[in-house]
Amino acid sequence: MTISKPHGGVLVNRIVEESKWTKTEVSFDIELDDIALSDLELIANGAYSPITGFLKQKDYESVVHNMRLSDDTAWSIPITLPVDEVKAKELESGRWASLSKDGEIYGYIEIEEIYLSDKDTEAEKVYQTTEIEHPGVKKLFDRPDYYVGGPIHLVKRPPRKHSEVYYLDPEETREEFAELGWKKVVGFQTRNPVHRAHEHIQKTALETVDGLFLNPLVGETKSDDVPSDVRLRSYHVLLENYYPKNRVFLGVFNAAMRYAGPREAIFHALVRKNFGCTHFIVGRDHAGVGDYYGTYDAQKIFSNFTEDELGITPLFFEHSFYCHTCKAMVSSKTCPHDSDQHVILSGTKVREMLRNGEHPPETFSRPEVASILIQGLQKVSQ
Ligand code: ADX
Repeated sequence: MTISKPHGGVLVNRIVEESKWTKTEVSFDIELDDIALSDLELIANGAYSPITGFLKQKDYESVVHNMRLSDDTAWSIPITLPVDEVKAKELESGRWASLSKDGEIYGYIEIEEIYLSDKDTEAEKVYQTTEIEHPGVKKLFDRPDYYVGGPIHLVKRPPRKHSEVYYLDPEETREEFAELGWKKVVGFQTRNPVHRAHEHIQKTALETVDGLFLNPLVGETKSDDVPSDVRLRSYHVLLENYYPKNRVFLGVFNAAMRYAGPREAIFHALVRKNFGCTHFIVGRDHAGVGDYYGTYDAQKIFSNFTEDELGITPLFFEHSFYCHTCKAMVSSKTCPHDSDQHVILSGTKVREMLRNGEHPPETFSRPEVASILIQGLQKVSQ
């Protein structure tokens, strides 16, 4: 296999230079929230190919119920543009609206539909729960109830939290991979610092592919996740000390985290295919939160699709951890020893240690990484 074809066959490009924007008959303005602003850019730069705009009702319902767009293309997360009832009544289909945030226009939408969402069904199908304690469900219900569907254009890039060098469009990552001579590229999604277990599964994958696309998500996450600037510093120190230079490419995924577990694993894989990956890592409880999903549900969901439909090969990994008897990173597939030999720490426990200035064991996290996290998290909590 060579660098993968974009989902749907063609990389979408709906970026227009502001000065070249010629539509004058813009009738309305829609205020975007952070999620919609990041989605706008990711639609426009082709990360969400084949989607060319915010979903219309037929596609929305099809994605919610069947994990496919209405033309049957695999797609698991609804990409929607919510507006409140007052705005919904003001808008008219067939007209253009500017898409703005804090007084800046970032793009335009050709309004084709304004429709009432079905949040209960959306929550039940996409998140497998309607409980408001689930951060993705909470976000879903906090957003307004009407959705606007139609094709978009991006005229201005959203403000950046980090250096511009991390933000690459799929066209650019594809060029980078080609220049590096990589044919097989494995994508790695993360919203966390890279601990030993992450490193283990990445390096195991690297044994069989040409390169690793380390693609941390830096859009909206829940407040107790480690902030992305601290994470970025921790990735650098790890890559400098423990990874061969020409085998890893670091770039951010500027999307919001949905915490939709299995559904989000499919979405994450398809997006990484658009960035040029041929393989995608799915480990334990991918994109999960709390106890909402079974440990391997995000792997099992892939059996709903043929390899052809997805066009990217998932690489599944068991829960991995350090074993004191094996003196190595292992999983239940490779280690025969009792659990008292295993170093397994919850994310909550590790964050608590780091906030208290305590280093987790080296068998859990590289000391250089832990130092950066301690420094960063203490500053945040002060
Ligand atoms: S996620 O929400 O972005 O999925 P995280 O950053 O923790 O969370 O995970 C990144 C990837 O590593 C996911 O594919 C996840 O399943 C996998 N993963 C995380 N921890 C482990 C582990 N201990 N063993 C195996 N896979 C893991």
